[in-house]
Amino acid sequence: MTTQAELAERTSDAVEDWAGEAKRVTSRVAFISGGMGGIGTAVCKRLAAAGHKVVAGCLPGYDKKDEWLHTMRERGHQVWAAESNVEDFASCADMFYRVSATVGPVEILVNAAGITRDGVFKRMSPSDWYSVINTNLNSVFNVTRQVIEAMTDRGWGRIVNISSVNALKGQFGQTNYSAAKAGMHGFTKALAQEVVKKGVTVNTISPGYVETAMVRAIRPEILKAIVEQIPMGRLAQPDEIATLIAYLVSEEASYITGANIAINGGMYMS
Ligand code: CAA
Ligand code: NAP
Repeated sequence: MTTQAELAERTSDAVEDWAGEAKRVTSRVAFISGGMGGIGTAVCKRLAAAGHKVVAGCLPGYDKKDEWLHTMRERGHQVWAAESNVEDFASCADMFYRVSATVGPVEILVNAAGITRDGVFKRMSPSDWYSVINTNLNSVFNVTRQVIEAMTDRGWGRIVNISSVNALKGQFGQTNYSAAKAGMHGFTKALAQEVVKKGVTVNTISPGYVETAMVRAIRPEILKAIVEQIPMGRLAQPDEIATLIAYLVSEEASYITGANIAINGGMYMS
């Protein structure tokens, strides 16, 4: 029979093995669409700090690109920038060809590019509808399609799609955004099934309101009313979202796929 002392020794060996394993992080190439935005920047910092080579996507001609790269490199992060409009399939194809040739094949993909064009449905213009669907949902096809075969061929990959609490609960003034973000859930679950046997996981996260430019654009009195509905009584910080993403793309998250993980301060519990 195993004595208490033997059990304790075995457990302690297992913990040491686990800690050693956790330190041996494989350096991979990570691409983050919208990588220079509020949540995107936090994700880039986290993944670079974990030892990955990080490529931040931005719109062609983005005027703060050099400043962003400079700040990140000054902090010792290994980061690159790659320009494409995620609404456009050909623009994404060109960009991934360049990324693959210069940095390497992408093994970690975070779909973070997104926009809002809020307004009540009866006054919503076709342009506000299509822009939001294209940037938040069609982008997921345009970007993911470029990397999926290389991931399955190599037998390892991680994809995280950033949806929203408003996909789960709906939101007044966001028929376009709630529809696009809800579409991501179906995409995630379908693709996860197609690639599960090839070592690739696909997951969605659904953040609540996070303190970035996107939320700062809401009228102050409306934002105040929204924050009052959050049980934690505050907005999320981008790094709180990035921490979850860093876990989902890690080796340790190997058994999570097709999931939607809520991270919303208790705003919507499902
Ligand atoms: N439920 C019910 N009624 C509401 C409501 C709500 N949530 N919000 C507003 N109304 C009512 C108002 O009381 C008002 O009623 P009256 O006409 O009787 O006074 C009417 O609807 C019109 O409201 P507004 O004056 O606000 O209308 P507007 O046209 O000026 O603005 C809006 C519409 C732009 C959608 C504005 O309401 C708004 O900004 N809402 C917040 C939308 C939001 O949450 N966006 C999130 C952006 S960040 C993000 O999306 C990230 C993420 O994933 C979480
Ligand atoms: P953000 O700071 O505005 O970042 C969005 C990024 O997407 C920006 O860098 C933006 O570039 C880029 N982008 C927009 N359109 C693009 C296009 N056509 N092609 C390429 N890049 C494009 O907002 P955020 O809060 O970090 O949002 C990141 C993601 O999280 C979004 O998908 C958002 O919907 C989602 N989300 C946010 C919250 C929140 O509360 N903030 C909550 C839930 C989910 P430019 O700045 O150059 O336009």
